Amino acid sequence: MRRKVAILVLFIAVVLTGCGRNSEERVTRSAAADETTANMINSTNIDETSPDKIDTGVKGDDDTTEKSRILIVYFTRADNVKQDDKLDAVSSASITKNGDTIIGNMKIMADYIKETTGGEEFSIKTELSYSQDYDETTDQAKKEQQDDTRPKLISQVENMEEYDIIFLGYPNWWGTIPMPVFSFLESYDFTGKTIIPFCSHEGSGLGSGVSDIEKLCPDSVILEGLAIRGSKVNESKNDITEWIDSLGILK
Ligand SMILES: Cc1cc2nc3c(=O)[nH]c(=O)nc-3n(C[C@H](O)[C@H](O)[C@H](O)COP(=O)(O)O)c2cc1C
Repeated sequence: MRRKVAILVLFIAVVLTGCGRNSEERVTRSAAADETTANMINSTNIDETSPDKIDTGVKGDDDTTEKSRILIVYFTRADNVKQDDKLDAVSSASITKNGDTIIGNMKIMADYIKETTGGEEFSIKTELSYSQDYDETTDQAKKEQQDDTRPKLISQVENMEEYDIIFLGYPNWWGTIPMPVFSFLESYDFTGKTIIPFCSHEGSGLGSGVSDIEKLCPDSVILEGLAIRGSKVNESKNDITEWIDSLGILK
């Protein structure tokens, strides 16, 4: 009988020791799990603070969303002719005189867009000036279109990759974008960018400018454009603000 009791006591001792080891292993495993979790948290912290992820753009109001950077590109005859007394500003409905400065319609529209969006402006400039005579300019532009010319540009956007939204302004020239705008669109990669056309004209509206932009930028999103008659550009601020509101691009 005493022997049976001794065996029973020994059995109970073995079982209890085994349970203790199991619980110790569980503690160890859970400590290891905690360590792994801690490592994961640390590595998340490292990622969050890595230079690639710090402040890559302008933060939104809630400091979590990044605002799109906006570039307002435009071509205007006024920036591509010699600005002196010989400039034919009288017969050209496209030019506004502001003291000594001559301002093109597209610059006026670009300024209104800038006031509404806070974007940055860029004027497309060609190496060769167009004639100061309006009719001669129309002849030059017609020839450039017939010859499919790409006029050389002397202004460049240095940091195009930083912009997500490009407002693209053109005067309707012979039914579409002027050839320097073709040169401009072929000079950069607009993949993934949003392009928003705007135009001034003397009756032809946006013409085939938008479809030409689509052909030149097949991997961009092209939003609805706005056309304003040249003589109405000065009073177009409300139209421009309403149009930009309707695009839903401002956060
Ligand atoms: C070379 C040239 C061609 C033009 N062709 C057209 C045209 O086909 N249809 C139209 O409605 N207006 C045409 N226009 C008028 C311009 O689109 C209009 O005056 C525009 O407002 C000019 O803008 P800007 O001052 O920024 O250059 C033409 C003007 C020029 C100088």
